[in-house]
Amino acid sequence: MIDLANYQNLKDLVAGVLAVWPAHEKFISKSLEERSADVLKSSDRMALLIKTLSAHEPGGLEGLCKSYKFLCEDIVLPEELHFRRHGTYRLSNFVDAEREVYSNADFMRQYMDGLLVSSVLWVNHTQALHHYVNTYLPLLPAGANHLEIGPGHGLLLYFAASRPEIGSVTGWDASPTSIANTKSALAALGVTRPVSLTLKNLFDTTDASSDQSYDSIVLGEVLEHLEEPVAALRNIKRWLKVGGRVWVNVPANSPAPDHIFLVKSPEHACELVREAGLEVEDSAAFAMTGTTLEKALRRQLAVSCVVIGRRVD
Ligand SMILES: C[S@@+](CC[C@H](N)C(=O)[O-])C[C@H]1O[C@@H](n2cnc3c(N)ncnc32)[C@H](O)[C@@H]1O
Repeated sequence: MIDLANYQNLKDLVAGVLAVWPAHEKFISKSLEERSADVLKSSDRMALLIKTLSAHEPGGLEGLCKSYKFLCEDIVLPEELHFRRHGTYRLSNFVDAEREVYSNADFMRQYMDGLLVSSVLWVNHTQALHHYVNTYLPLLPAGANHLEIGPGHGLLLYFAASRPEIGSVTGWDASPTSIANTKSALAALGVTRPVSLTLKNLFDTTDASSDQSYDSIVLGEVLEHLEEPVAALRNIKRWLKVGGRVWVNVPANSPAPDHIFLVKSPEHACELVREAGLEVEDSAAFAMTGTTLEKALRRQLAVSCVVIGRRVD
């Protein structure tokens, strides 16, 4: 294990996970070895946020770490086995995902808590978040109107709200539970500026008042949950001002019980953005822990695909 003496929060989170799951040490070691000093610094910052959030959870940090173990062993592993056998995700429509996953409150809570911890321990998740904080947010013009669709655990919205040069911060989510989570996370993390949070499905375009309103829209880990990702991106185009940007993070080859649209590669993610009429300004791809990008693409292993799209007309 690398020396974490300069990264106390990361050290605490790793200790918390190893206390409930000692056999995970080899994976964590590998995941940490693959990080640059900059990414380790971001990991430590995110670990501090997770520790802060855990203080408001009934099970504390131990509860979050147990949920992380549940995510890896009981949620993702069976789906991974299906994907390896059949080359497809197990479910392909929203109704089934709703029945099996979204409507199961206890399962959802453990799933979302586990994902929060994965944002620090799965190197592709950390690198995507690092890209958002260090590459994407600094691109935004002063006074930008910023919207995140599907903020869920609220970490990404927190980073936007922490930048005073961003003019307004808004979140839309189709799930009342997610809206409540985002709201309590922002409060726990000490956000005092106004953040507008609305229950809204991104396929709902009945209200035209949001058209051409945003300089920035974020869609982190949402497209893979949709039957029609291009239709969703077309709506995003309509809500962006001309010149505005979207930051998309979508995993390729990443089975989970509520992933119903299979993105096959980083290029496939870029094609979806182009198909919706947006220009691809930048893109990046981060392979899962324990492999190189080249090997991950060859073997259809999970890769986080980040795309910055721009509305040019
Ligand atoms: C996996 S979480 C992503 C959390 C966070 N954005 C991230 O990058 O880690 C997906 C979120 O998208 C929301 N979502 C799914 N479908 C949606 C839709 N059609 N409209 C709006 N939100 C949606 C879910 O409720 C959930 O909060």
